[in-house]
Amino acid sequence: MSTVPSDSSAALTAAPLAQAGFGACLTGPGTASAAALLAAGASDGKLAAMLDAADGFLLVKGLVDLRDDPGLLVRLSTLFGPVVEDYTETTMARNRIHRDHPEIFVVSNGPPANRQPPPPPTPPLTEDGAFPVTFPQRSGWHTDQSYRRPPPDISLFYCVEPAPKGSGQTLYANGVAAYRSLPDDLKAAVADLIGIHAQPGTGRSESAVRAGQTPDPTGSHNHPQRQPVVRHHPVTGRPALYLCERGQMDWVDGPFVGMTPGVDGDGARLLYRLMAHYTAPAHVYCHDWDVGDLVIYDNRSLIHAATWFDAAAHVRVMWRTTVWGNPGPEYAGEAKSWRATAPSAR
Ligand SMILES: [Fe+2]
Repeated sequence: MSTVPSDSSAALTAAPLAQAGFGACLTGPGTASAAALLAAGASDGKLAAMLDAADGFLLVKGLVDLRDDPGLLVRLSTLFGPVVEDYTETTMARNRIHRDHPEIFVVSNGPPANRQPPPPPTPPLTEDGAFPVTFPQRSGWHTDQSYRRPPPDISLFYCVEPAPKGSGQTLYANGVAAYRSLPDDLKAAVADLIGIHAQPGTGRSESAVRAGQTPDPTGSHNHPQRQPVVRHHPVTGRPALYLCERGQMDWVDGPFVGMTPGVDGDGARLLYRLMAHYTAPAHVYCHDWDVGDLVIYDNRSLIHAATWFDAAAHVRVMWRTTVWGNPGPEYAGEAKSWRATAPSAR
């Protein structure tokens, strides 16, 4: 991890994230509440720099005031980029958008969002008896909304109501470290490689293809989108792997341009190798949520995955925003792929 500027008199200080090879946990007077964080971040103007210095992952704990004032999450989001996305202007399902704040995506198994957690891995533990994090035993790894061009830069993820400890965690993997540690043959394979990303639920996932499902007819707003497999961060310049796996790549025409397509092709075999490397335990941090936790993560250089919890017994509630507007020169001047049709057409 890069050195994070630290000043004992500052409102915000950053300490390396425990049990992780990347990321930072913020402490200090500026973390006493979400309102304090907003004030400290705005006055110092350095929250985004701290995120970059921490390899794109920040944790702030104890922001319980945000539960009663969700607008604070939107205002905090403005510190990380030019545009906090309004999900009514994306392909987001309306029942998963916060009633009063269209910038907030409600991730919950409770109504009206009704989003169920993923199943537990099979088998539930690794051969060593550990909690599985590595693909393909662990699946669901993705970077947010990579099926759009330009994709969102940064997400803020806030815990309103967690699942019981030891369940409903979020796993994060560091794409910078994963790229750096690629074996030579894989580094050569990804150098100019382009991945094809597809929106979940459009019949292009690996499981849908294996089940013989006919892909949904895609409108111009949700065509699969091509993305570089190696992205150079527009601020730090660091290269990182930019990939998803079973559910958010295009397994019909992809997963990679110029390789044999489909679930049993050369492209599929390469993706499995890359994702197993990317999600090796050395690159992964597992976050077990407490009420009031805020995680800020950079989608340009990290991927993440949800874990199972008992949705029949517990309602988990999380809020997420995405910040958009600095995807790098490769996307310069591009129209938003998801705005190719009128909102009423979605
Ligand atoms: Fe996500």
